[in-house]
Formats: sequence, C-alpha cells, structure tokens
Amino acid sequence: MSIISDDFENKTPIKKEKNPITKAESFESDKNFENSIRPKTFDEYIGQTSLKEALKITVAAAKKRNQTLDHLLFYGPPGLGKTTLAGVVAEQMGVDIKITSAPALERPRDIIGILMSLKGGEILFIDEIHRLNRVAEEILYPAMEDFYLDMTTGKSQTVKTLRIPIPKFTLIGATTKAGELSGPLRDRFGIVHRLEFYSTQELSDVVKRTTNILNIKIDEKGAYEIARRSRGTPRIANRLVKRVGDYALVKFSGQIDEEIAKDALSTLKIDEFGLDTTDRTLLKLIIEKYDGGPVGIETIAAAIGEDVRTLEDVCEPYLLQSGLLQRTPRGRKVSPAAYRHLGYKTTCNCQQNLF
Ligand code: ADE
Repeated sequence: MSIISDDFENKTPIKKEKNPITKAESFESDKNFENSIRPKTFDEYIGQTSLKEALKITVAAAKKRNQTLDHLLFYGPPGLGKTTLAGVVAEQMGVDIKITSAPALERPRDIIGILMSLKGGEILFIDEIHRLNRVAEEILYPAMEDFYLDMTTGKSQTVKTLRIPIPKFTLIGATTKAGELSGPLRDRFGIVHRLEFYSTQELSDVVKRTTNILNIKIDEKGAYEIARRSRGTPRIANRLVKRVGDYALVKFSGQIDEEIAKDALSTLKIDEFGLDTTDRTLLKLIIEKYDGGPVGIETIAAAIGEDVRTLEDVCEPYLLQSGLLQRTPRGRKVSPAAYRHLGYKTTCNCQQNLF
C-alpha cells in the first residue's frame, strides 16, 4: 500500500500557525511528523476499539468476497485520527489511497481528474467532505453509486451527455460536522462511523508509542502527565511529546518523568486539564462578566477577539466534552467544575466530568 499524493493534495488549504499546540486541527508543521509516526495496521492503531472491530470485519468480508469496500464516512472532532484510520483501512485492504480535501476540489475538473485517475479497488479519501460544493457533489453521486461519470459535450441544442465508466473505488469521507453534510451525500455512504475522544490511558499508550519511535525515554507517570493534558486528542498528545522532549533534552538529560512533564507543560501554559490561555480566558469571561452565563457565542467571540467559528470548531468541543462548558438554548454556561478548576468559590458540589 502506498499513499499517493498528487498535486491536488498541495491545494489543500492549511491553517495559518497561531498557537497550534493545544488546537486539534492540522497545521502545516504537523504534516511530516504525523506521517512519520502514523500507525499502519489495526494493531498499531490505539483506541477507537469498537470502531476498529467493526472495520476489521468489514475489511475481512470485502477481502473474502473479493469485492471493493463500501464507501465509508468517518465523523468526529479534529485530531482523533480519521485520516490515519483511512490509511490503515487501505493498508489492510492492500490498496493505494489518494488523499485530498473538499476545499481542494473547487472546480469540476478537480474532482473529475481524481476520479478518472483512480485504479480498481483504490481508496479516495476526502477530508472536510461537508465543504464539497454542489457541483462536485453531483459529479460524485453517479461515481459513488454506479461508478460512472456524466460528462456533457456541445452547447445548448447539441448538448450530449456521455456516460464514462470508471473503475470501482471506495470513497472514505471525513468530517468534523456530519450535520452539515447534505442528505443525498450522507445516504450514499454504506457505513458511517463516529470517532470518540480518547481516554487518558489510551493517550498514554499513544505517548509511549510515539516516544518509542522518536527514541525518547519516558516513564509511566511522565506519559500519563502528557496524556491527561492532551484534550482527549492524539494529535495534541503527539505535539506535546515533541515539546516536552525538547524541554527534557535542553534542561535535563532528555528523559521525561512526571516532574519534567509538569514543568514543561506549565511553561507552555497548558494546565492540568489541558486548557490553554484562550480556554481559560473564555471561561473566566463568562464567570466574571456574565455571572457564569448563559451568554451568546457572538458576545464571547467579540469580547475575547476570536471569531465564532474558531470558538465553535476549535475551543468548544473539548470544553463541552469535559463538562466545563455547557450549551443551552440561551447561550453558553460554565459548570461548577469550571469554577473550581479556575479557583473560584462555588457552593455546588457537583461531580467533575473530566475523563
Ligand atoms: N498517533 C495518532 N493517533 C494514533 C493512534 N490512534 N494510535 C497510535 N498512534 C497514533
């Protein structure tokens, strides 16, 4: 199996660097590093246990029947390994994978070009598939369903439609926003799977695997410390491994233990729950200026100088999942756990909801 990256991959817009350490989206600086440590088999891939079991069956059945795999849709927050899992599926099927993303498929010829370049059984991976435009979607429908492309030639009265067959292929779509996928596109995926945030133990295993590949020595507690500040997200855990590894090398002997991990992470202003300065500013704003909420997301965004989309896509998923923030019909509210975490007094004795 090889990953084919044509120039269409280079058209994928990459997010500008800001402070990417605790952000789950992919940045340019992650690319080479992530590719060098990507697990290639189901056994190497940590976490997402039930999804992995389901996929193993799907892959084994397709191989036994000598058939192409059904189209698959992976959805869930960024950084949880949707691209990695698609690569694992390709490797286990023994086929090539072409990786692109919806914003790179702006013109009809972009999607037609890729579809026509596919060989039988290959996998086409489209990231951020909810961002496909309508024309691209409509080209995709007959390709996904019956493996042909509808091409038109000529003008007005002489227009003709040609049906061009293409080899059978598997589309793997990935999205952080399944709700924004059009109904007809969603219905064309035979299998739909959601990826979940990782437990601290699973992230600790990811940290140990990565340090092993990078030849960095780490003990159990050091790995756990990095894991619990990684916001349930392997991409963040791997970034922290690199940063803590650098810190350990420059300040100490290069070996990571609990103390060194704590020191390094507090220098990076990442707290015990993995919150960064933006997260803490957001929670403190709601507590101090809006009495804990509810307050509208637009108001929060204007007050802290972030745009609404960044807050919704990047900051909120983990704050909601960890129970520090709550979404109500009247706006965002902080939980008693957030008050306690940030050192404010609260009379409520509610349980914290962190993993
Ligand atoms: N690196 C990123 N995600 C991973 C995973 N799920 N398992 C192992 N290594 C990873």
